[in-house]
Amino acid sequence: MIRINNLVQQYNDKLALDHVSATFPEHQTTAILGPSGSGKSTLLRALNLLEMPSKGTLKIGNDTAIDFGQPLTMPQILATRQQFGMVFQEKALFTHLTVRKNLTEGPIKVKKMSIKHANLTADRLLQQFDMTDLAERYPYQLSGGQQQRVAILRALAMQPKYLLLDEPTSALDPELEAQVLRILRDLASQKTSMIIVTHNMQFAKRVADQVLFLEAGQITYAGAAREFFEAPKPRIQNFLSAMQF
Ligand SMILES: Nc1ncnc2c1ncn2[C@@H]1O[C@H](COP(=O)(O)OP(=O)(O)O)[C@@H](O)[C@H]1O
Ligand SMILES: [Mg+2]
Repeated sequence: MIRINNLVQQYNDKLALDHVSATFPEHQTTAILGPSGSGKSTLLRALNLLEMPSKGTLKIGNDTAIDFGQPLTMPQILATRQQFGMVFQEKALFTHLTVRKNLTEGPIKVKKMSIKHANLTADRLLQQFDMTDLAERYPYQLSGGQQQRVAILRALAMQPKYLLLDEPTSALDPELEAQVLRILRDLASQKTSMIIVTHNMQFAKRVADQVLFLEAGQITYAGAAREFFEAPKPRIQNFLSAMQF
């Protein structure tokens, strides 16, 4: 379980996170939804310390307790980041490495996994998601959807506690998007702990257990996805209509 409490993140005179508190249960998918500029990416990035809120706390299980009001040490930051795998909107593969090497680089360098074990893990992931034939290709030889699927596998290869995804399909054509969403659906049904920012309401309705709805840096809904989509309050109804849902 991740628990954040009263996170405050300010950019100049703009409060991107305005005392945000939430929990993210393990083995569930949480969708972070809300209008553009509401703080979704800031919230996601604060979890793995790519943003440093000025106030608030972050607890992950019983091991990690961060107080943003105090200076953080580098070991503390690295230990926290190791618990997350992150996938961004734009593809971010290592362009000079094959797909297999993209999957083994982190485990070998960061997790000190043996080359043999890292290769086994990579091949198992590629097989599981039907991508074995891509193993020796370089990123430029892949479609956008394939690159994004490799990016997801690369994050999984690090065996993170939580997978963080920030609009992972926004840069893709609809048919390529479907391939990526299929993987995420599989991961959700395998009870992977995921936190995903998405504008795809159909997808969120289908996979999310929990929804956090952000508006102007504040969470205005936190609860079951079913209730969010099936009995929306007027404000949320407006948002869903604007998203053509
Ligand atoms: N690095 C930054 N510098 C200044 N303002 C920022 C920065 N990052 C985000 N913001 C502002 O913080 C608010 C929340 O941004 P963001 O978390 O990216 O929203 P979302 O992901 O929901 O679209 C926005 O008003 C945005 O302009
Ligand atoms: Mg964003």
